[in-house]
Amino acid sequence: MFRENLYNPRSAKTARVRPFMENLKDQLSRLVGAALRDATGIADSDPNVITASRPEFGDYQANGVMAAAGRSGRGPRELAEAVVGSLRDDAGLIASAEVAGPGFINLRLNDQALMERGNGILGDPRMLIPPAGKPRKIVVDHSSPNLAKEMHVGHLRGTVIGDCLSLVLERLGHEVIRQNHVGDWGTQFGMLIAHMREIGEDSDLLRTELEDLESFYQAAKKKFDADPAFADRARLSVVKLQGGHPDYLAAWRIFIDESLRHCQDIYARLGVGLKLADLDAESRYNDDLEGIVRQLEEQGLLRESQGARCVFLPRFKGKEGEPLPVIVQKSDGGYLYSTTDLAAVKLRSHDLAADRSLYVVDARQSLHFQQVFAVARAAGMAANMSLEHIAYGTIMGSDGRPYRTRSGDAVKLADLLDEAVSRAFELVSVKNPELDESERRRIADTVGIAAVKYADLSKNRMSDYVFDWSTMLSFEGNTAPYLLYACTRIKSVLRKLPNESGAGKIKTLVLAEERALLLKILQLPEVVALVARECYPNLLCNYLYELSGAFMRFYESCPILKAEAETRDSRLGLTLLAEQALEQGLGLLGIRTLERM
Ligand code: ARG
Repeated sequence: MFRENLYNPRSAKTARVRPFMENLKDQLSRLVGAALRDATGIADSDPNVITASRPEFGDYQANGVMAAAGRSGRGPRELAEAVVGSLRDDAGLIASAEVAGPGFINLRLNDQALMERGNGILGDPRMLIPPAGKPRKIVVDHSSPNLAKEMHVGHLRGTVIGDCLSLVLERLGHEVIRQNHVGDWGTQFGMLIAHMREIGEDSDLLRTELEDLESFYQAAKKKFDADPAFADRARLSVVKLQGGHPDYLAAWRIFIDESLRHCQDIYARLGVGLKLADLDAESRYNDDLEGIVRQLEEQGLLRESQGARCVFLPRFKGKEGEPLPVIVQKSDGGYLYSTTDLAAVKLRSHDLAADRSLYVVDARQSLHFQQVFAVARAAGMAANMSLEHIAYGTIMGSDGRPYRTRSGDAVKLADLLDEAVSRAFELVSVKNPELDESERRRIADTVGIAAVKYADLSKNRMSDYVFDWSTMLSFEGNTAPYLLYACTRIKSVLRKLPNESGAGKIKTLVLAEERALLLKILQLPEVVALVARECYPNLLCNYLYELSGAFMRFYESCPILKAEAETRDSRLGLTLLAEQALEQGLGLLGIRTLERM
């Protein structure tokens, strides 16, 4: 039936020429930008095109004229008129351009041009989000838990935001190198190894104890704090480990493998793409650290301060204005987190030849990254690579403090996901008591995980947010259940079709709701481009929420199946595009859709 149309390779081939690689906003920026440059003669004047702040202003507005007027010494309204006068829109994209207020230009797009774009995508749905002009190589450092403990709620954001950004960048045709910079080499491992050796490395008891890494860690820590002899053995174990003693390395390996298995379980449950092959463990850099310090020394960047070897950069000053050091080697010869990160910068820039390196890491580490980036730049370690800390805030409990269990422990990610799925199961069972249990379980699995991921992705990553089961599982508002439900509504429309009807080309935009839906759909690529640049997944979530709203309004005011054949087929085409946009958009968030729920 019509659905095959979408993926018909023949129809994809006939769409051989891909005339609209540029998204609407970029195309408008180019057109208005050229006119603005013509009118002012200033080469770098920016038309500042944005989606219209209110529908009565049209579809887009250009806000850049006022600033350009200031620079060119012309009156803003007069300049705006001149820009409108010299617009060269050969493709016929713009239906009207009107000067408003102090010098805004309101732009309304041509219906025919919108329909043509829509129809082009119907023939080749990959064009809904066309590839970026210039493919880049981009490292996405994300998740990166410390392996001494089990993954907890604090790792959720870095894991899902990083996954979403990786998916977005990959979709745009960039080469994404995922890096899971796990902490596997610190002093805590001495304590864990000493504890393992006491239990007996080959014993069955050890196997069972390691099933709960969290209590294993707690047990080792308890011994460490209570028993000075054990603490000595723990410290000795670190020295042996870092010195490469085979017995200690073997014990360490057992622990690391177990811990990584836990992580991979979590990634699989979350539907996150990190693989073992993406590991970029701290231990990997062990042999490079000496060379990093030597390089800094040779470049004259090192100074000794209280026995430690430090880099002082004028940018970093303490409260009293005293210079703050970035320590790269302690007085006992040990290296630090920063030293490892410098080695990683070097690898990403020199060996991987990446253009961008994104660090999706807790905002509380921002001083660390400012320092690492500054030292790396001073030492020329990342000459052609941009270094970007993609910081995120903390997940809070309702008490306004970081989210914890009632007894004050860290909430294990595994437990959190269990609870999400079981709560979703209750919800689905209330909504659909008639479905059999296995079906309800399957749906609950998708809804529960999606709810947790979406609640996180839909918040501005820079802010803290309060973890709240009832909002994230609500069917109302900007939530995963709402979006998944909207998606099933669209799919059920498409399923209800009588056999002879098919999605046709979009031929009419009779009602305002039809046009609004089409325009919204066509705006997906500009949102995706923005997410790729600024790394804020919540922009995509907001977009998908608005898209669902636009579909619901269309669905309520435009009869589909009851309309006469041509209108029906045209509206079906629109429905199909809406389904594609929602599904592809959710896919970029790492969220699977459902046929029913
Ligand atoms: N393992 C670190 C932690 O748990 C996060 C690592 C982030 N990535 C990096 N390149 N520093 O805090």
